[in-house]
Amino acid sequence: MTGAVFYATRFGASEGVAKYIAGRIGADIVDLQKTPDADPEGYGKVVLGCGVYNGQVLPLVRDFAKRYADAAPDFDFFLVCALRDEKADEQLERIAKELGVGRRVYFNAPRNMMGVEGSKLELFIEHLSNKN
Ligand SMILES: Cc1cc2nc3c(=O)[nH]c(=O)nc-3n(C[C@H](O)[C@H](O)[C@H](O)COP(=O)(O)O)c2cc1C
Repeated sequence: MTGAVFYATRFGASEGVAKYIAGRIGADIVDLQKTPDADPEGYGKVVLGCGVYNGQVLPLVRDFAKRYADAAPDFDFFLVCALRDEKADEQLERIAKELGVGRRVYFNAPRNMMGVEGSKLELFIEHLSNKN
């Protein structure tokens, strides 16, 4: 079944990651700002990604997760952020809990991870590729 990467961005970093992931796993890509009523139903793998601004994701992303709360535990979520280490982990956990998403990961400087074997981004893609 086809996968889809849903994302929202303010400055473009999340879009870059979303496009990279979608290209690697052969998934559709959906910009929530252009398609706010996008529907994940019918997709085998659903990835949701965005940046964080003053501790919050964009309302569109929250709305999407809320609208599909029943499916959200199956979403693979990525957050692009400036924080690192413990503070980034805490931020990610708080946001993932708010959104009700399942597997989650944060990327700090994701461009530096593209094509780098064993990087968080490549491991995330590997996990998505192995997901049925
Ligand atoms: C106004 C503003 C607030 C931000 N707040 C946070 C924050 O609370 N935590 C964090 O880790 N990064 C924060 N960042 C960094 C962004 O999350 C990071 O630049 C991310 O790549 C933005 O995603 P985007 O390029 O897809 O919009 C902030 C950046 C800006 C410009």
